Formats: sequence, C-alpha cells, structure tokens
Amino acid sequence: MSPGTRPLVLGNWKMSLTGTEAAVYVRSLLPRLGSPADREIAVAPPFTALAAVAAQLKGSTVKLAAQDLFWEDEGPYTGEISGVMLQDAGVTYVLVAHSERRRHLEENDRLASLKMRAALRSGLCPILCVGEDEAERAAGRAERVVRTQLALGLEGVGPGEASRVHVAYEPVWAIGTGRAATAGQAAEMHTLIRLELRSLFKTGAAAVRILYGGSVTPQNVDELMGSPGVDGVLVGGASLKAEEFARIAAYRVAR
Ligand code: PGA
Repeated sequence: MSPGTRPLVLGNWKMSLTGTEAAVYVRSLLPRLGSPADREIAVAPPFTALAAVAAQLKGSTVKLAAQDLFWEDEGPYTGEISGVMLQDAGVTYVLVAHSERRRHLEENDRLASLKMRAALRSGLCPILCVGEDEAERAAGRAERVVRTQLALGLEGVGPGEASRVHVAYEPVWAIGTGRAATAGQAAEMHTLIRLELRSLFKTGAAAVRILYGGSVTPQNVDELMGSPGVDGVLVGGASLKAEEFARIAAYRVAR
C-alpha cells in the first residue's frame, strides 16, 4: 500500500437484507461509525438494495460496493448487471470472483479477468478475490493456487490501472467457519501476493490494497490489521450486525 493510502474495511452482505431492511440497518450503522479520516469504510449490499443504501449513504463518507458484475457493458445478457449500471448506481468498489461464486456458479479465472477489465473500463475499483481451499492448503499447494489465481485473474490489466486494483486474500477454509487465518498466515500470503503484484505491475504494485477476508470478527480484527501487509479487511457474517461491524471498522493497531 502506498504511503497516504488508507486501509479499507468492507462489509460483504452476501444474499442478506432486502432494500427495506438495508435502509434500516444503514441508519443504525452510520452513527456508530463516525467519520474516521485514517480509514475507508464500505458496504456491499445485494443488487436490489443498492439504491436504498445509496440514498442512506448520501452525505456520509461510507462508500458503496457491489458483489459482482457482468463482463460486458450492455446487451442481451438476461439477468446480468454491468459495471456501467453499477457506476451509475453510485458504486465505487466491486467484488470479483468471490469464492462462493467460484464454487456455486463455477466462475473461473478467465471470467475473473474479463470482469476485472470490465470493472476498470467502467471506472470502478475491482477487488479480485483469491484463496486456497482446505485440501489445497493441506497438500502444500496454497501458494501455487493463489499465485495462479492472481496471474490469470489480472491478465490484461495494465500497470496504469493498478492504482484502482484491489486483491482480497480469502482462504476458503476461513470463510464463514469462525476459523480465521492467523496473523502469521495472513502476513505470509500477503507478502507473496505483493511479490506477485510487483512482477505484474512493477512500481504500480505499491498502490494495490490487499485485504484479508475470512471470519473477521471484533475479537481478531486488531491482530489481523496489525499483521504486516494487511491493508484492510473483507467482512462477511460480522458485517450484518451494526455493533460488530462498527467495532471492526474501529480496529486499533498496536504500534
Ligand atoms: P465471513 O465471510 O466473514 O463470513 O467469513 C467473508 C467473505 O466471504 O467475504
């Protein structure tokens, strides 16, 4: 992360909250967050709640994120949502190839790269999600898996666009399991990701924020954020409770 860049705390609501519920939630969340100047906070509601959340976020520093996008800008793609539409809806960040989409919708690295490029084309900041599963870690293949997902997912993305690119390291075994990576495991993988980014983007790599995701809670966020190379967190389950998400966003790193 470049000097001057702020860490990012992003709540991924997944398939939770209707527009009505989301508006109520954001109204209770905002006063708990305040307006910290040294970090960025964002929420990623489902598509159907984007408009309601955007309306609630007006005048606040909290940014709007989306959970996915299609790789074309418009056309005959029933059911899909483009980056252009997200941009128009007030979205800043968009997740790409979350492991749940890789698993349930068979999204692969080729689609990830198409979506990364579509997001960048639309002026959005895409967050490429990478991470090994339990068996891959047990087999000693975690680093190879992550390196491959990065190289293929970022194919066609130029160094000039690196400042908008984000990576989220989300080990599949840590997502929704209550078993977060240790600070050491996160640091190890974030270092590897930074090296890989350097070989892809050269000096532009410094601007890329690398988030950690997988069972982030108010209890472990301080340690994870204090781990070298962790430039933010992607929070699933714990982002659905206003007090918990606010506490996570108020993480404190011991110096
Ligand atoms: P979790 O999910 O915090 O519930 O583990 C994280 C994610 O999938 O982004």
